[in-house]
Amino acid sequence: MIKQSLAALFVVLLQLLCPAWSQPFPNYHADFVDIEEKDTDLKWWQTGAFYQIYPRSFKDSNGDGVGDLNGIAAQLPYLKEIGITATWLSPIFTSPMADFGYDIANFTEIAPIFGTMEDFEKLMKVAKEQDIKIILDFVPNHSSDECEWFRRSAAGDPEYKDFYVWHPGHVENGNRRPPSNWISVFRGSAWQWHEGRQEYYLHQFVKKQPDLNYRNPKVREAMNNVLRFWLAKGVAGFRIDAVPHVFEIAPDAQNQYRDEPRNDWDNDPEDYGYLQHIYTVDQPETIDLVYSWRAVLDAFQRDNGGDERILMAETYSPINIVMRYYGNETAEGAQLPFNFLLISEISNSSNAHAYEDTIQKWLQHMPKGRTANWVLGNHDKPRVGSRLGTDRVDMLNMLTSTLPGASVTYQGEELGMTNVWISWKDTVDPSACNTNPSIYENFSRDPERTPFQWSDAQDAGFSNASKTWLPIAQNYKQVNVELEQQKPLSHLNVFKQLWKLRRQSRTLQRGDTQVKALSDTVLAVKRSLEHESTLLTLMNIYDGVETINLQQTFKDLPAQLRVLLITERSQVKVGDLINSTSLQLQPKDSLILEATSSYYGYATNGELRSLPALGVYLWLAQVALYLSSR
Ligand code: GLC
Repeated sequence: MIKQSLAALFVVLLQLLCPAWSQPFPNYHADFVDIEEKDTDLKWWQTGAFYQIYPRSFKDSNGDGVGDLNGIAAQLPYLKEIGITATWLSPIFTSPMADFGYDIANFTEIAPIFGTMEDFEKLMKVAKEQDIKIILDFVPNHSSDECEWFRRSAAGDPEYKDFYVWHPGHVENGNRRPPSNWISVFRGSAWQWHEGRQEYYLHQFVKKQPDLNYRNPKVREAMNNVLRFWLAKGVAGFRIDAVPHVFEIAPDAQNQYRDEPRNDWDNDPEDYGYLQHIYTVDQPETIDLVYSWRAVLDAFQRDNGGDERILMAETYSPINIVMRYYGNETAEGAQLPFNFLLISEISNSSNAHAYEDTIQKWLQHMPKGRTANWVLGNHDKPRVGSRLGTDRVDMLNMLTSTLPGASVTYQGEELGMTNVWISWKDTVDPSACNTNPSIYENFSRDPERTPFQWSDAQDAGFSNASKTWLPIAQNYKQVNVELEQQKPLSHLNVFKQLWKLRRQSRTLQRGDTQVKALSDTVLAVKRSLEHESTLLTLMNIYDGVETINLQQTFKDLPAQLRVLLITERSQVKVGDLINSTSLQLQPKDSLILEATSSYYGYATNGELRSLPALGVYLWLAQVALYLSSR
């Protein structure tokens, strides 16, 4: 009788085990298979790892000290290896380089310094092979004064006469003065007198960047054709430059432009901050213009098929305006209006509550159904390591790759590159050159634009020129790709692991998000999705050792969590189990932890998910066998 009962128990146990054995065991070390596109309703860009290339400084293939397209093509396998989905190239078009390519002389031509159209086509081919999308920079606000359109406009050619914003200005007591008090972003009056045309033209940036006149439908059509030209070459979309500046207020009935009011906190009449820019940025027409560009992209896709083409909009506007760029009930806008909050609101001294508020600000303002994005740096802002500390590089990469939506990395941030001090003599950025030796450092963007550090070879492996366009960082022997590839927990390898995990985790791709400051110093991001493991990103922002009880904040967590990803600062190892009620973080430490319900037998989706649980079942089965055979 006892024997029979035990045998029955054995059979029941086997029945329990068989379906479990046939289920795949989850792998806790982030080498699940990549989630295939067909397996998900997410579009390619919605969880994308975007990477900004500043072409002058990425890789020089011809030894002239300036990066180029062939250099980029040669390094795409590197981007593939570290998990990049798409790369946005700062402008590569014909330009006198007064603003290093943001002053375009021909919108559909490749600048010889970067290569030829064939080089571009080759780059597109390599990108396709590597499955990396190419996004171009679309600079709508202005052209170069060396653009054919401007030449013709200045000459009064009827076709181009109103392509730019012209005004005769005022004459008082025999002295000529500009049409309004408007100031350029790069200092001084935003109006420049043109001898040939005998009128002023508007330039919100340097005087070699005359503003296009979007009140002229011919300009809109010309720029739509620029989009169509590059779409036909196979690009996946555009980053739209300086969007808020595109429109300025229209002149009044007397053809006058109104002056902007003063900011009383700025006493330098040449400085952009001197005025409140109520007539020159964020005009209502701008949003609709972006919607019309989106319509061009969507029409192209309807006609030509393929993956969705996207717009990423550069706007440092107030959050309620930024959100309107996403679109409204009737029109689609930019899929990704850049989220610059981590740049503009987070500083070296921000605590965990400030991080929580900043992240929530975007998530709470974002219209339903839209996709978030996270940006830590770009070619206009000091590097992450210099702004927030090199010892926070990993935690910040961890943060942006585990928050929901897309993330944009500026070249070199994956290595922890830092700003390079550039002397006044070597300074080339117009934003600094327009100032003077005593204040230029506050304006220069050269420090974050220095050549990429590939190795410890000559010119950091960027070039073999005797002089590069900007100096190479002195730390290139310690901070470079070659070296960091060899160190298991280098910034580069942490970055690579992060994006691998992100590609493989449904929770990270589509899970719910809770962002919480557990104290002043520790920030937690919890991502959870039904039938999937819950993941937790923890970052200890300051220099103390912190002991935290996660269950106080996240009541549903199991007693133990498994370590999925660590940094050089961590004292735990990948795979360790740690107590969720008492968990220690080292100074500036960050971790990704995984919670499964596996340690309690069957997980919610019915799979037997853990080896410890399997061990217990096997042991029971053996006991049953032994007893029944006696
Ligand atoms: C954008 C670019 C910046 C450029 C400016 C003018 O802000 O990012 O580099 O100088 O527009 O085009």
